[in-house]
Amino acid sequence: MFKDFKLIAGRPVYIQVKDYMKHLIIKGALQGDQKLPSTREMGVLLQVSRNSVIAAYEGLEDDGFVYVVKGRGNYVAPSAPGTVKGSPRIMDWKAHLNGHAMLAEELDIMKYGIRAEKGTISFTSIAPDEGLFDLDNVKRAFMDRMAVEGNVLLNYGYAKGYKPLIDYLHQYMEHKGVDMKGKDILITNGFTEGFNIVLSALNRKSGHVLTENPTHHTAIKNLKLHGFGIKGIPMERDGIHLGELEKALDEGEYDCAYFVPSYHNPTGIVMSPEKRQSLMKLMAGYDIPLIEDGFNEELRYSGSHVSPLIATAGAGNSVIYLGSFSKVLFPGLRVGWVLADQELIYYLESIKRAQTIHTSTLDQSILYQYLYNGNLEKYLKKARAEYKRKYELTLECCKQHVHYQALTGDGGLHLFVAFAEGFNTRELLEACRAQGVIFTAGEMFYTDGGGQHTMRLGFSRVADEDIRKGIEVIGKTAHKLMG
Ligand SMILES: Cc1ncc(COP(=O)(O)O)c(C=O)c1O
Repeated sequence: MFKDFKLIAGRPVYIQVKDYMKHLIIKGALQGDQKLPSTREMGVLLQVSRNSVIAAYEGLEDDGFVYVVKGRGNYVAPSAPGTVKGSPRIMDWKAHLNGHAMLAEELDIMKYGIRAEKGTISFTSIAPDEGLFDLDNVKRAFMDRMAVEGNVLLNYGYAKGYKPLIDYLHQYMEHKGVDMKGKDILITNGFTEGFNIVLSALNRKSGHVLTENPTHHTAIKNLKLHGFGIKGIPMERDGIHLGELEKALDEGEYDCAYFVPSYHNPTGIVMSPEKRQSLMKLMAGYDIPLIEDGFNEELRYSGSHVSPLIATAGAGNSVIYLGSFSKVLFPGLRVGWVLADQELIYYLESIKRAQTIHTSTLDQSILYQYLYNGNLEKYLKKARAEYKRKYELTLECCKQHVHYQALTGDGGLHLFVAFAEGFNTRELLEACRAQGVIFTAGEMFYTDGGGQHTMRLGFSRVADEDIRKGIEVIGKTAHKLMG
């Protein structure tokens, strides 16, 4: 015994000795009431100083693993974990889980999706390229904020969010043209939590929701987990098909609508300003809350800025805007926001408090200071230039190699490709995977089981050379499959 102890550099020795002894006790190698070697003997056995062993034994006593008999030494506590006798209860957890847990697992594509083996060229991600992150400015923001109010940041914060960040976002949204009168902001853990809080707050009359078809898979997943039926409206080149939307509005009852007007996921389409006006005019005739997902607005590479729907709504209060910095800045800082009528935010704040108390104040404060220091503009300039280059390269490669029927994507971090109806991108994916290239088959973004002929190509984290190679493989393989 004690021969397998190995010291690791950089961690206090007494903690390593303590952890090692705990491990021996928990796995049963040391029994209850068994006497431990003296501190001197143990020091020799483990080749550490006697003082380290003394400190380790004291720590073990504090944690209830060891007791001391005065004048005789240290003994393993009979109540220490691992030494307690009796037959352990082995539970069948499946029998204790509900339908919600089962459905969450079933819809969890991260568990079932195709895994990228080492060396695979993967177009599946639409996360930002971490190589672009300006770490020095993030570190500076952290140090700046800690210097100002580190103690406060590490304590509990407010459910509504970190006040300086809320004030910053207030102005940020005002500069996007939003009439902020009567509106308020709730900080959330990204878009996804904001969406869930809103869905859990809405009155359920019909149990049905309107979305674009296709749409963001996480939104589909959460709508299903909340028990909503989804009515997907087809898209045109400039956004949602208004005629189809009007028909659905006239024929059915809906508890809310969820739209992604800018750099829609998966199609990459930016809804035209004219269509935004018409959409808001149409929706004004119905008593249906409109959830706007503004996650990608800043990643425009050409053309002029397009106002969010909530700005188009003017003084109206029917739009619930969900913002996120996950694509524009750093998804690891789980910070997003809900901007909506202040009465609604008042209730959402209580749901947020009940569910998670608040979003990490540290994350919020780092983001705030980073924004306050003026880094967003600089970073966006760099990120836009790089993503635009990759966007154009991917587009060019698709035009050269892929015999597609339609290709969309006005910016953002991905393109969406549709082949002729009848073509199956799952088969294409299998064939490409065998050659070391993967992408996302489009089917999972569809609300009606369609989209088998489509695929999404995320290019943000793919090197130029791999974009060239990967798209050529996809194009040639698709051509072969078409016969
Ligand atoms: C349509 C859409 N909305 C929002 C998000 C961002 O979600 P979150 O802020 O939870 O990271 C994504 C990320 O891929 C997305 O595709």
